[in-house]
Amino acid sequence: MEFCDLSAQYLAYKTEIDKTMASVIASTAFINGPEVKALEQELVAFSGAPYAIACANGTDALQVPLMALGVGPGDEIIVPDFTFFATAEVVSVVGATPVFADIDPVTFNITVDTIRPLITKKTKGIIPVSLYGQMPDLDAIASLAREHGLWVMEDGAQSFGATRGTRRSTSVTELATTSFFPAKPLGCYGDGGAIFCQDEALASRIRVICNHGQVKRYHHGVVGINSRLDSIQAAILRVKLRHFQDELVARDRVASLYTERLRGVVSTPVVGPGCFSAWAQYTIRVPNREKVQAHLQSKGIPTAVHYPVPLHRQEVFAHLGVTDERCPIASKASQEVMSLPMHAFLTEAQVDEVAAAVKEAL
Ligand SMILES: Cc1ncc(COP(=O)(O)O)c(C=O)c1O
Repeated sequence: MEFCDLSAQYLAYKTEIDKTMASVIASTAFINGPEVKALEQELVAFSGAPYAIACANGTDALQVPLMALGVGPGDEIIVPDFTFFATAEVVSVVGATPVFADIDPVTFNITVDTIRPLITKKTKGIIPVSLYGQMPDLDAIASLAREHGLWVMEDGAQSFGATRGTRRSTSVTELATTSFFPAKPLGCYGDGGAIFCQDEALASRIRVICNHGQVKRYHHGVVGINSRLDSIQAAILRVKLRHFQDELVARDRVASLYTERLRGVVSTPVVGPGCFSAWAQYTIRVPNREKVQAHLQSKGIPTAVHYPVPLHRQEVFAHLGVTDERCPIASKASQEVMSLPMHAFLTEAQVDEVAAAVKEAL
């Protein structure tokens, strides 16, 4: 069994993908070609955010807006303690300080209550992550941010396609990002990412920074980076985007089946009222994780841990002096979470097999 079956997905769309890749190769428009422009328009239409800028990966998607906003030394940015490293890494890359917020024990996301005590005179912005595919209450976070004159950038690397109420992930806050890493809900065949924003001037600044700060050919207004999406990746993403809504429904069905089978056996994920998760991960909590993982492994069922070390305990952030007591919920979650195979092509029989193995292990 695959944790995320990218081969099954390729076989399902093979004709369309092979054709579009051949067409990009024949066109030789490999960088910033028409496929990239078309993808950006389709991302706008799908997400509901007014501007979308494709870039090289989900990490650059976070870093470039920080550069565009002039975030740097002396600034503090609030990020979750429990997320993939990149969310905090970019803050350090631009010379600012990440400040780790603890999470809600049910959704694993940061909340206004965990953010509020961390706001200081140095705070410039908040990067909430829509972890495992579910959006936090971004309206509440944005309203807290407004009170203090801060910006909010949703890290939607795991949640493209999710909704909260009527709005999609990446369309709610002034800035948002996603990742097209192959295993993400919408993934390409290499690295890829996108930045979403609500303001035209900021969108143009971001676009310039993604392309060496170039305002016109060989004229550089600011220092930027090289963060462009390859046309081949854009073409593949356009094919996958056509099937994306169906895949989201299929993932949600897999999640419901898991929850039905595992309810009362282990702590299963909870999706809040009015929320639809993109199910980047289906993550349960188990007390004796290593034993459960070993049992599933012995049955040929792969599992993963997202994430075994909270950010405050990462060696590189030791100098910040954040203790387990400051982030008790993230610390506990990092010891208990375990993700089960999740993708749109998982069958009911496979879900049964996984659930049976989890029950046996417990
Ligand atoms: C929450 C989060 N942020 C950022 C990233 C970085 O994305 P990428 O791997 O495309 O650079 C990831 C990818 O794993 C992620 O899960």
